[in-house]
Amino acid sequence: MLDPTAFPQDFLWGAATSAYQIEGAVHEDGRLPSIWDTFSRTPGAVDNGDTGDIACDHYRRWPEDVALMRELGLGAYRFSIAWPRVIPTGGGPVNPRGLAFYDRLVDALLEAGIRPFATLYHWDLPQQLQDRGGWADRATAEHFAEYAAATARVLGDRVTDWTTLNEPLCSAWIGHLEGRMAPGITDLPTAVRASYHLLLGHGLAVQAVRANAPRTPQLGYVVNLSPIEAASDRDADVAAAVRADGHVNRWWLDPVHGRGFPADMRAVYGVDLPEQPGDDAVIAQPLDYLGINYYFRQIVADDPTGPAPYARQLEVPGAPVTGMGWEVHPDGLEQLLVRAADEYGARKLYVTESGAAWPDTVDASGAVHDAERTAYLDGHLAACGRALARGVPLAGHFAWSLLDNFEWAYGYQHRFGLVHVDYPTQKRTMKSSGRRYADLIRAHAGHWAAKVPSAR
Ligand code: IFM
Repeated sequence: MLDPTAFPQDFLWGAATSAYQIEGAVHEDGRLPSIWDTFSRTPGAVDNGDTGDIACDHYRRWPEDVALMRELGLGAYRFSIAWPRVIPTGGGPVNPRGLAFYDRLVDALLEAGIRPFATLYHWDLPQQLQDRGGWADRATAEHFAEYAAATARVLGDRVTDWTTLNEPLCSAWIGHLEGRMAPGITDLPTAVRASYHLLLGHGLAVQAVRANAPRTPQLGYVVNLSPIEAASDRDADVAAAVRADGHVNRWWLDPVHGRGFPADMRAVYGVDLPEQPGDDAVIAQPLDYLGINYYFRQIVADDPTGPAPYARQLEVPGAPVTGMGWEVHPDGLEQLLVRAADEYGARKLYVTESGAAWPDTVDASGAVHDAERTAYLDGHLAACGRALARGVPLAGHFAWSLLDNFEWAYGYQHRFGLVHVDYPTQKRTMKSSGRRYADLIRAHAGHWAAKVPSAR
């Protein structure tokens, strides 16, 4: 068992999900389509033609899911709010029935002693905004702030922990450059404009939540980072690693930390940013925390004819990989946490996602023994412990994911959950990894209760 004493007394243990990946009920209570409803209906876009129409049916089964969180002993739950439920047209009237769902969920979480961490954008842009230009259009950033304000006004008397964007890299680069995610565009200038407006929207949303939440909010921003290594010490590969680091990490960290967009990457992209006076300061709003999602490191080689940033990711021969072929490399998490603290001066960090997919099966006794995921969890929590020992201000860890769910362009074939979901019956089964997480959470609480009797 992992050493629970490596984690401070107030360390927060959580799990994460996102709206489109689990809720289903895409036509319920006034919700209108998002870009993911459209994308998942595009022939060939999602494996097996899967959609989020039903997903984990969480929109109806949330009481059962909150009970599972309780069983795990979670101190926090990170979920996302669906913009197309709250303002179905993207920029227009608020739909109280959409917000009411999150009202019920938040009340139930608080009742269960679980701290709600609400993310405002986990990739489900209202389709009507996409029809008007989506994130490539400045107005989308402004509408995002209106939505953030409306949500904070209603939920901000109980939700204090807010995230603006989840993994803007995926929205911009995978959605607008590589085309493997909604809205499925493959155009560098559009992608760069989208990246800019996502970050502008982030800053405007921070201001909007601060101005409208009845209780003082804690505001954060969540990035998926990767340590980058050059495949060789050839100059071309070393330069490719610098570009890949710019594309994956610095483009998303520098502007929000008041450093502006990296000059080297502006030159690599060669696209004018749609900058207006004052934007820099909006984007660099002071934050209460930074959330890091970590899945794999990247070893890259120069790729002059490939897409920006002209760096190709290589496989690491013989390295352990997950069921999706992603390298298992817990040291990378420690490295990123230390970098965020040392290089960016982060004063409070959360691991907002960490987890892995393997093809789990329910055995004859009805149990799911996911030894690999359990080892993955242990390994990555040990990396968190090492970062803490090096003085990193890590305040919590959220496992990705609470439930097996809709894994975007891969549909339902990859399972990340601590809890197994049998999609035809919607039966939930706690996996061994979930039990391990619960044991660790209990052991951590027990350690501190013994050490600090008043904590009991
Ligand atoms: O499922 C996704 C999640 O939506 C965002 N972060 C990565 C996860 C695994 O791919």
